[in-house]
Amino acid sequence: MALQNAKGQDIPFIGLGTFPFEGEVMANMINNAVIAGYKLFDTADDYRGESGIGIALKNLPLGFNREDLFLQTKISDNNAHKDDPLTGIFFNKNSKFMQRHTVHEIVHEKVCNSLREMNIDYIDSLLIHYPFPDYMVDIWEELIDLKQRGIVRYIGVSNFHECHIDKLIHSTGVCPDINEIYVSPIAIKQSMVEYCKLHDIHIMAYSPLMDLASRRINSNMLQPIADKYGKTIAQIILRWNVERNCIPLPKSKNPNRLIENYNIWNFSLTPEEVNNISSLNYDYQYLVESKICPGI
Ligand code: A2P
Repeated sequence: MALQNAKGQDIPFIGLGTFPFEGEVMANMINNAVIAGYKLFDTADDYRGESGIGIALKNLPLGFNREDLFLQTKISDNNAHKDDPLTGIFFNKNSKFMQRHTVHEIVHEKVCNSLREMNIDYIDSLLIHYPFPDYMVDIWEELIDLKQRGIVRYIGVSNFHECHIDKLIHSTGVCPDINEIYVSPIAIKQSMVEYCKLHDIHIMAYSPLMDLASRRINSNMLQPIADKYGKTIAQIILRWNVERNCIPLPKSKNPNRLIENYNIWNFSLTPEEVNNISSLNYDYQYLVESKICPGI
């Protein structure tokens, strides 16, 4: 299943979150997921999981190639890998490191690391992990250049608010393809959903099942909907994301749940059901959206 927006972009409709898995554990999970139907795999340069994706790519199930997959990683403010040649704190104007290195150097080094760790020669999607206040436009210019050079197919952002995306657009004229954010029935991000629709930006929803797993979501209203379709509550939440044009990135170390979470294509929710689920919202925010972006 791929989502085509007005720009004709072919981004899979569901993906697999992969943090904090590493090495062989990651490789096994990816292989199970590929067999289950997943194409999109989400990682970051600071998850230490890219090399596990590299291992998976060397041993893909029969009939699958790297080109069949959509690999997404991110540019973060901390060290990419233990052997990263650039050590220090990135994208913070108070860091002495930033007086010695340019954003171009850092992004270049990080992208080379990601390509090497995953053993690939292009990245499907590269995101700015957080809206680093002093550097987001400089990093964005680097990503635009990488896309123009064909090293990256899609460029985007993560944890960005409308004002941050506005800043990128006004500074460069280039709108992100993707914004990866936390979306949940208790944090529906309605204004961002509308903003992204207006700008043809794909929303990806990280940790879409986190609030179910931690029992923050009241299942009384969801259970009858799940019963109606013969689905689990997790599947209803994932489908609710799809109905709202949010690409869910669930994760599970359990192979059966991996399959369960992908199996959401043979039913759809009514607009009323979507609205009822959205009415659970109370703008909950669990994760700090950025460690170095005060005020958001
Ligand atoms: P598990 O890995 O044991 O399946 P986050 O993305 O924030 O880490 O949240 C994912 C959580 O949701 C994990 O605790 C995961 O547990 C759980 N989870 C994943 N899929 C399902 C599912 N289908 N039903 C219930 N919990 C799930």
